Amino acid sequence: MSIYDFSSETIAARNGTEVDNAYKSMGIPIYMTNNYLFDDVQQGADFCYSADNGHCYTRISNPTNDELGKALAALEGAEYGIPFSTGVAAISTLALTLLKAGDHVICDDTTYSATAYIFRTLLPKFGVESAILNFADYDAVEKAVKPNTKLIYFETPCNPTMKVIDIARIARIAKSCGAVSAMDNTFATPFITKPIELGVDVVMHSTTKFICGHGDAMGGALVGPKKIMELIREDGLKNLGGTASPFNSFLMLRGLKTLEIRMDRLSATAGQVAEFLEKHPKVERVLYPGLPSHPQYEIAKKQMKKFGGLLTFEVKGGVKAGVTLMNSIRLCALAVSLGEANTLLQHPASMTHWYVPKEAREASGITDGLVRMAVGLENPGEIIADLKQALEKC
Ligand SMILES: Cc1ncc(COP(=O)(O)O)c(C=O)c1O
Repeated sequence: MSIYDFSSETIAARNGTEVDNAYKSMGIPIYMTNNYLFDDVQQGADFCYSADNGHCYTRISNPTNDELGKALAALEGAEYGIPFSTGVAAISTLALTLLKAGDHVICDDTTYSATAYIFRTLLPKFGVESAILNFADYDAVEKAVKPNTKLIYFETPCNPTMKVIDIARIARIAKSCGAVSAMDNTFATPFITKPIELGVDVVMHSTTKFICGHGDAMGGALVGPKKIMELIREDGLKNLGGTASPFNSFLMLRGLKTLEIRMDRLSATAGQVAEFLEKHPKVERVLYPGLPSHPQYEIAKKQMKKFGGLLTFEVKGGVKAGVTLMNSIRLCALAVSLGEANTLLQHPASMTHWYVPKEAREASGITDGLVRMAVGLENPGEIIADLKQALEKC
């Protein structure tokens, strides 16, 4: 039986794989080795030629990393997966492998800050022309396509505005022009959204977040068609070096075992928090894909099984009230990142998106008073009580 014959729950719980052959260990062994012994020169040549033949050097392939790649690929319904040292390493490797000077790329205007930097600033420095626009305007995306468009990149729900993009529509535009579509599925995870089933070619993850789940290891991943992924391994990973630590891959495999139950719990808590905030007189607006008031609620319902653990809200009273709120929380933590057991709050305009030009930031919905909240696994009533006491001070 193949790993692909099982449900997502079983693939995640069992890490998708057979028992390790050598000692029949139930857990995936952590192969902390840089290199591998060859039987003879010919085998060395074969293994160094392609990771398909065998392991040569861990920058290119490693058994623990490969198990994580396989499990993530199976969960996303992809042919092949590769873990990276961080999510940003996965994105930059994807872009630098697939694009060259003279190519054109289209990227949504609301992405994680380092993603925005790669597509707005880094790629144009190397002669790649990039169009950054609002993917909620599907006609604009279609019009932006050029004969040299090679990659269409987006995330949904978007960080940090929670904009939801119709995945199938963007994938169709990419297919019709022969470009690769790539989507960051960090916020939703494969237990909520399956972009490949909706037509996307390559899925990216910051495994640092929900997949790790405990805030103690950085990682990234790309999954997609074997042809593209092999190129990414043999060209981008090998020569740019954003390889995952095998120890971190072990932690990600461990995180996968509880991913579904954590996503269920986080989605339920975030829904309760969003409803509380939406009724609060000191809150201007709340953006959560599970609220009927969310501008893309209908799209969210179509492509998300649950609505995830992230939401944003704006406190009445602008930056001053926002700062008071952030400085008044007691149980929730004032920290970046997301997908951990702790509830985390942060202020994108001053903390994570300060280097996106103010005009571009505001045009993409990141206003000065916007607060991003990543709910955690604490008691939902206690999270709400903490927000309540902090809002009373605003
Ligand atoms: C949606 C999203 N994509 C990518 C990244 C980058 O991942 P990493 O921090 O693992 O490099 C982040 C980090 O916050 C993120 O939120």
